[in-house]
This record gives sequence, structure tokens and C-alpha cells, in this order.
Amino acid sequence: MSAQPKDIRVDDRHPDVEDTLHTVRRGLALKAKKLPSRLFYDERGSALFEAICEQPEYYLTRTEIAIMRDHAGDIADTLGPDVRLVEYGSGSGIKTRMLLEHLVTPVAYVPVEISRSALMESVAELATRFPDVPMQPVCADFTQPLRLPVASRSPRRTAIYFPGSTIGNFESKEAIRILRLMRTEMSDGGGIIIGVDLKKDPAEIEAAYNDAAGVTNDFTLNMLVRLNREIGTDFDVSAFRHRARYNVLAGRIETALVSTKRQDVHVGHDTFAFREDEAMHVEYSCKYSLEDFAQLAAKAGLSVAKVWMDEDHRFSVQYLVRSTPVA
Ligand code: AVI
Repeated sequence: MSAQPKDIRVDDRHPDVEDTLHTVRRGLALKAKKLPSRLFYDERGSALFEAICEQPEYYLTRTEIAIMRDHAGDIADTLGPDVRLVEYGSGSGIKTRMLLEHLVTPVAYVPVEISRSALMESVAELATRFPDVPMQPVCADFTQPLRLPVASRSPRRTAIYFPGSTIGNFESKEAIRILRLMRTEMSDGGGIIIGVDLKKDPAEIEAAYNDAAGVTNDFTLNMLVRLNREIGTDFDVSAFRHRARYNVLAGRIETALVSTKRQDVHVGHDTFAFREDEAMHVEYSCKYSLEDFAQLAAKAGLSVAKVWMDEDHRFSVQYLVRSTPVA
């Protein structure tokens, strides 16, 4: 079955202008200003993120790909035949292809992605490469409960694939909530294959978020360009700078947009004042030890059944299963 646009079951939760306006107003009204990292990903933001993945300092992507290259066979053996593979985020990447190449008679591939264009593109590509795998794309926000399509034959197991250390972009309470949602989606006997970035030399982590070519800088500032265009804010983009620092105690990169001067920003009829050097938080990228992540997973009723890592233990791909019956 080839995935044509008409096959896409649109569960349209794409935030509209009003939602974004509301989010930005609320974030700028806080004493410590804060905007959610999902606002990075308009078309240019997604392209810049792809470019970040190619930067020599950004070790995450190439290390995870190397792990998949070495262990995709073992991962597929762990999942067994007749799996329904549900991916959170669009699976245009090489990692998804490696997994699909090794899975034995998968029942369906179900990518869940909020950006309709990214979803359509990735499904079209994968459908060409894997003509025998039924594609069941869902355009939806995976951080909310999903209604997954029924597969044409019963899977032996539902496996959720969540690569890229995207889980690290959520604070622990939210990460636990999302893992719990996955636990519900995968049902009894299911599992989660998740990419988790590991704690390491802080200088190496910090360099990954401050590449010499300035791609991450452009990615961060693009959030303001996007808001100016989409909701009519008047951020002076040239008067903000990107700042990404590793907080060793919290084990996370904290990214902020820092105002380089005193300035007012208008959002609809509201005005928000920025002091010189005032930082507006825009992203966390959490790093874990294996023990940290096992503890986080346990809080979501999950246990770590297997871990695959690169030689230098920079990054991990982990297999999580239910540790307790559904509450
Ligand atoms: C998507 N996510 C896992 C990336 C990360 O490493 O936190 C986003 C990113 N932000 C700056 N560089 C990359």
C-alpha cells in the first residue's frame, strides 16, 4: 500500500495563531520569561535543526546512527516479528530506515507528527523504500493522548520508537507524563525504543549547543523571526543573542534568548519590557546517567530491559517495558 495524502488520517491539533499568541503572552508575562521549545519548529526551524545534526560538535545524531548501525539487528530481534512500529515524530531519518530494514514482517508503521508537511514527506519516502509495510500516518501532537489507527492484521506487539533524545527536551514531570502516555499506547506486551543522551564532559555537551558555524545560534533566534511573522510580534531579532550553558547540577543544557538592550516587545495590545541582559528561557536539553533515566522510567511504570551504547558511552538507545500492571 502506498501512502497517498488521502490516506492520512488528520487528527488536526496544529496550534493556530490564537493558541500561539496565548502561549507567548503567558510566557512573557512570567517573572522569569519563558517560551516553549516547540516554537522553534516552523519550516526554517526544522531545516536549521537538520543542519545542526550535521555539525561536527553535535555528537548526538551521528552517535545514535552509529549505535543503530551496530545494533539495529539486535534491536529488531528484541522486538520480534509482526510488530506495529509507532514513531513519535516524523521518521524520515536514516535511523527509522535501519530499524524497518531489520524488522521481520512488521504489521504497520505509524508515524505520529504534528507537521503535516514533514509527515507526508517522510511517509512518501518510506512507502517507496518499504512497499510491503503498511503505512498509517497520524497528524497529531504526541504529547496528547492519541487514537491510533487499527492495523489490518493483529500485531504481536506495539513498539514505540522515540529517537533523537527528544525526551530530554521535557522537564522531568512532563517527561514522566509522556512516558506514561506511551505506556498506555503500547498496551500489554509492548515496548519503547528510546534515544537518550548521556552525561559526559560538560565542555563536550556545551560545544554541541554552541557550534562554531553558528547554526544553533540561528536556530534559536529563528523562534523570534517566526513569531514576528506568524503572530505579529515586534521582537528586534538583532537585539537578542543565543545562550546555551550546561547546568552540571541539573544535568541539562539551558538555552535562553538574551536581550542585549533595554527594549519593549509588543504582543497584540500588550507590551512587555526586557531589561538589558535579561534572559528568556527557551529550551532544556536534559542529559542522563543510566541510573537517572532508569529512575525516571520507573516513575512512569516502566523498566529498562536493554541498553545499547556506543563505545564511549556518549549516547544510549534503551528498550523500556511495563514494570507494573496498568493502574
Ligand atoms: C530535538 N532535540 C533533541 C535537540 C536537542 O539536542 O535538545 C534540539 C536542539 N536544540 C539545540 N540544538 C539541538
